[in-house]
Amino acid sequence: QSFFRPILNAAPPSPTKRHNKISVIGVGNVGMAIAQTILTQDLTDELLLVDVNPDKLRGEMLDLQHAAAFLPRTKIHASDDYAITVGSDLCIVTAGARQIAGESRLNLLQRNVNLFKKIIPPLAHYSPDTVMLIVSNPVDVLTYVAWKLSGFPSNRVIGSGTNLDSSRFRFLIADHLDVNAQDVQACIVGEHGDSSVALWSSISIGGVPVLSFLKNQQIAYEKETLEKIHKEVVDSAYEVIRLKGYTSWAIGYSVASLVRSILRDQRKIHPVSVLAKGFHGIDEGEVFLSLPAQLGRGGVLGITNVHLTQEEAQRLRDSASTIHNLQAQLDL
Ligand code: NAD
Ligand code: LAC
Repeated sequence: QSFFRPILNAAPPSPTKRHNKISVIGVGNVGMAIAQTILTQDLTDELLLVDVNPDKLRGEMLDLQHAAAFLPRTKIHASDDYAITVGSDLCIVTAGARQIAGESRLNLLQRNVNLFKKIIPPLAHYSPDTVMLIVSNPVDVLTYVAWKLSGFPSNRVIGSGTNLDSSRFRFLIADHLDVNAQDVQACIVGEHGDSSVALWSSISIGGVPVLSFLKNQQIAYEKETLEKIHKEVVDSAYEVIRLKGYTSWAIGYSVASLVRSILRDQRKIHPVSVLAKGFHGIDEGEVFLSLPAQLGRGGVLGITNVHLTQEEAQRLRDSASTIHNLQAQLDL
């Protein structure tokens, strides 16, 4: 017997409202930061959690469910069986090994490829129309691996890429100039992490291009300061990992911003890892690297035709070729 009695002459509820279902694979530091940001920002109707550690999984599920009285209504379920992910609109993969202090992201590759062989095929099987968002590291190579293992079209397999590095960059520029980071437009492309490429000419504050402003005002071009800021971006994760063991909050917010753009069809531009073949002279092979991409309900809608200097384009091609060589050694 239902708690409610229907009113007279009531029609069944209209099925027109869009219902969103998100699956998060891996409930470690990163998966849970993403899950909690998605919940507080009211981005989904259903949240499914999958992990291989059943106690941790059930514990995390219960802990989130117990916040129901303070959150928008969201169904939260968890299981080690991928059947619960059936019909997901978005699958976010965070499972896998993470770096220990001083270790590079690329060092995690073979361990995480082996896990992806168990994770990606069932996800693709249960949600053949989903968008896959890869977060596990090394994220660019693993996005390629997920693309291959899923058999999906390339617009539906996206790596969280340098959306996070760009936020770190914007924070540091904002801090340096004492402005709001949301007023700083600045983009980092290429590999997430060590060989990322900062697009200096893209930096503007409140719509004013910074480099030409400095030049017009005959203020010395602070190349060294800018390069120091970029180095700080590259070193950021290493520092946080040395201090607290892992990174989580910033990637949680970064991924939630991608979730919003995709599921709400915002058509916003984010630097994320996409199939980069054919862009900026990258023609060696099928590599995923971050480029400014327009995101919407279908995943990647297009890539911005951003101008790169010769040096920037060369650095991007160098990263592409390092990643391509790594991929060539993979046993998929
Ligand atoms: P963690 O150790 O806290 O969590 C990893 C989780 O994966 C664990 O709960 C583990 O049980 C689970 N797992 C392992 N094998 C699995 C499998 N086969 N199926 C399902 N779940 C499985 O690690 P973390 O700190 O959450 O980091 C996770 C990953 O995210 C790492 O690879 C890390 O490098 C990466 N990361 C990426 C970014 C980015 O910007 N792309 C940022 C931070 C961390
Ligand atoms: C980051 C992870 C470790 O926070 O890739 O950059």
